[in-house]
Amino acid sequence: MRVKVNLGILVSGSGSNLQSIIDNIENGRLDAEIKVVISNNTDAFALERARKHHIPSFVMQNQDYISREDFDRKMIDVLKSYSVELVVMAGFMRILGSLFLDAFPMKIMNIHPALLPSFPGMHAQKKAAEYGVRFSGCTVHFTDAGVDSGPIIIQAIVPAYTDDTEDTLAARILKEEHRIYPQAIQFYAEDRIEVTGRQVHIRGTDRVQAPPLHNPPLITF
Ligand code: GAR
Repeated sequence: MRVKVNLGILVSGSGSNLQSIIDNIENGRLDAEIKVVISNNTDAFALERARKHHIPSFVMQNQDYISREDFDRKMIDVLKSYSVELVVMAGFMRILGSLFLDAFPMKIMNIHPALLPSFPGMHAQKKAAEYGVRFSGCTVHFTDAGVDSGPIIIQAIVPAYTDDTEDTLAARILKEEHRIYPQAIQFYAEDRIEVTGRQVHIRGTDRVQAPPLHNPPLITF
């Protein structure tokens, strides 16, 4: 029997990444169990998704805690009480303090809608579209004390077009988020991940065979 990794998922919004994790667990491709969902936003649609799938959920509103440490301590207690092994930030719009990071060393993943280290922080898709990049994408990485700065596990690339808006680019990126996040978690579940400094080695994966991409496509060369 394959061992399942116990997940705690942190959300703030729609929860489409949470949904893709739920779906991939339910269709048997992801060896994980979501033990608990924590939201710092009462109105997050992600909470609705958790309820629908009978996953325990907690709301922790930022203003109910006197300090970041206080918030982090409570969240650690909840996650540990559900025997969570891997913390998955899925659109969780809050920075984690050192207390929390120390409680789950290299056991916290985050997804970011850009090719890090480009466009960290909020509104990544808007910044990328306005900048006029020719490619963007998404990144799953381990979380450290910086903003979207920890060691990178997997990235996906999508083209960006001159007539893209924030929304059209975000939709193209989100489709790939829903594929790479379950994959990153499955790498973890299969115990393939080894981190050395900034390098994340994933045992048993091949070198990517994709040829270089050009946007616009080369015509003369
Ligand atoms: C996703 O695009 C995720 O990459 C982004 O928030 C969205 C959440 O969507 N996260 C960040 O920007 C973190 N810096 P979801 O609630 O539908 O999964």
